[in-house]
Amino acid sequence: MKFLITGHTGFKGSWLAMMLKVQGHEIVGISLPACENSLYTQAELKDVFNEEHFIDIRQRGNLREAVEASKVDFAFHLAAQPLVRQSYITPIETFETNVIGTLNFLDAIKDSDIKGSLVVTTDKVYKNMNHLRGYVESDELGGRDPYSASKAAADIATQSWISSQELENISIARAGNVVGGGDWATDRLIPNLVSSFIAQRPAQIRYPEAIRPWQHVLDCLSGYIRLSDAMLRSGIHGIWNFGPEIRIENTVGKVADAAALIWGNSASWDHDSSSHLHESGYLLLDSSKARAELEWKDFLNFESTIEWTLSFYSAVAGGENSRDLLENQVNTYLSMIAN
Ligand SMILES: NC(=O)c1ccc[n+]([C@@H]2O[C@H](COP(=O)([O-])OP(=O)(O)OC[C@H]3O[C@@H](n4cnc5c(N)ncnc54)[C@H](O)[C@@H]3O)[C@@H](O)[C@H]2O)c1
Repeated sequence: MKFLITGHTGFKGSWLAMMLKVQGHEIVGISLPACENSLYTQAELKDVFNEEHFIDIRQRGNLREAVEASKVDFAFHLAAQPLVRQSYITPIETFETNVIGTLNFLDAIKDSDIKGSLVVTTDKVYKNMNHLRGYVESDELGGRDPYSASKAAADIATQSWISSQELENISIARAGNVVGGGDWATDRLIPNLVSSFIAQRPAQIRYPEAIRPWQHVLDCLSGYIRLSDAMLRSGIHGIWNFGPEIRIENTVGKVADAAALIWGNSASWDHDSSSHLHESGYLLLDSSKARAELEWKDFLNFESTIEWTLSFYSAVAGGENSRDLLENQVNTYLSMIAN
């Protein structure tokens, strides 16, 4: 099978590519060039791809040409500006990439022979009511910060595209905060913790009481792959949440405690109580639909998720090769879910 990944140089794209490669598939990537401190660069993933196109998805003509040339069976659309704080700095670019880029992607696949595609949005598309229950797929969408609003807009635009064009081969996946080795995005909890631990200074944590659906990136991506299988095999399509079992005790502070404990070497964190941009207090996902209809489940619980993630960073800091670590964790995970 031949897959397209937009956003293949990103964090999720790199892990997804390795999962598909290990499963014996061909992969085409479309992205902006990789950042120096990305997993794609550090793990030297270039050879994982049969073809790569370094283009901006805001350029409709270039994207269409690349998609037409790729002749894939299935596409995962992940390319996005995915950072909340960055979206306050560059809101227009965030909306352009996340909304227009997604529409350009949908337009590009329209006349191709593609059998199916999956548009990745996020748990942040839900209008945040600070519920202590998980959001379900039929809940109202919203978005206060530019990132959340742009992804909600991309989600609605995709739904409109599917219904107005009467398409039955496009689905939407909404997942939450994924963690895993090799993410170096400036805005995220684990990279912030690890950077501070390496520098041997206390990490500064903005909202230690905030609750998020922490999930290992492999569990999230196995949901995307399971959905793509189901779409290709039985033609199902729709909107799906992919989140971990709901545990409201899994706060940002608890992640930071667990990470510091695994890192050792007197790693610690402090609450940074200076004023910050708005972030929601509670954000939980109800993934009953994916569990029941796709028979998907997360294999790594909270403790294993933090353990797998921190052990990856710690091994890299100790001089181990990112590519080997990535391949090992993917192979271990795939054999775990096969049994
Ligand atoms: N990482 C998370 O915790 C998380 C949570 C929920 C949803 N998501 C969603 O998952 C997807 C992937 O996120 P990630 O964490 O891998 O992000 P990332 O920042 O690591 O990767 C983003 C990718 O998109 C590409 N990209 C960005 N702008 C582009 C443009 N204009 N043209 C072409 N390519 C462009 C980048 O080159 C990169 O390959 C995004 O859609 C994001 O919204 C991520």
